[in-house]
Amino acid sequence: MLNIALPKGRLGEKVYGMLKQAGYPCPTLEQPDRRLIFENPESGVRYFWVKPHDVTIYVERGAADLGIAGKDIILEYSPELYELLDLKAGRCRMCVAGPADFRDNRSRILRVATKFPRIAGDFYAEKSRDVELIKLNGSIELAPILGLSDVIVDIVETGRTLAENGLTVLEEVCPISARLVANPAAYRFQRREIDMLTTRLDAEIQAKADRER
Ligand code: PRP
Repeated sequence: MLNIALPKGRLGEKVYGMLKQAGYPCPTLEQPDRRLIFENPESGVRYFWVKPHDVTIYVERGAADLGIAGKDIILEYSPELYELLDLKAGRCRMCVAGPADFRDNRSRILRVATKFPRIAGDFYAEKSRDVELIKLNGSIELAPILGLSDVIVDIVETGRTLAENGLTVLEEVCPISARLVANPAAYRFQRREIDMLTTRLDAEIQAKADRER
């Protein structure tokens, strides 16, 4: 049985749809109730819903053999796991954003609000720009509006949240998408099953891309 941590929410439902198409359905998961764990012995999978930020914790510690995690979470926490596949779903961009008329004054420390201090810190370290990182847990767009920070480093999907709060993308940090990740020990011991799932899921990703073309 492969234990698979799915991220709760819209992305998780989409990814489950891809796994189902790839030959790993789980009918009980499709029932509208509040259970968090579901298994289908026939296809050899046990799924569970976890908070998107927690997927890599379950996989790294071996509570899950596989998981679907955003590249943002992987970059931020650098967990010890294998990244097997880009699902090309949940695509968005990690960006620096701020007021459209923002001009960086390099004689001052730049105040950066973010949910992703490591990603933001690495980005500015690469540019040798001194920054003060302000870690927030959400509603990041408020920070420059209220003068808590000069800019933010955050995820931009449609750009609507920025636009509706009078902010704009100033720089792109990196593209983000969902990844299939594996616990290294699980990969060693269940390599055949994991390789099979990866191959089938990869074929489904290609088929989906062809259908959408
Ligand atoms: C994310 C992100 C932005 C928003 C971007 O927030 O932090 O606020 O989505 O999406 P958009 O470009 O399509 O508007 P999330 O919904 O995860 O909520 P949070 O602020 O509570 O983290």
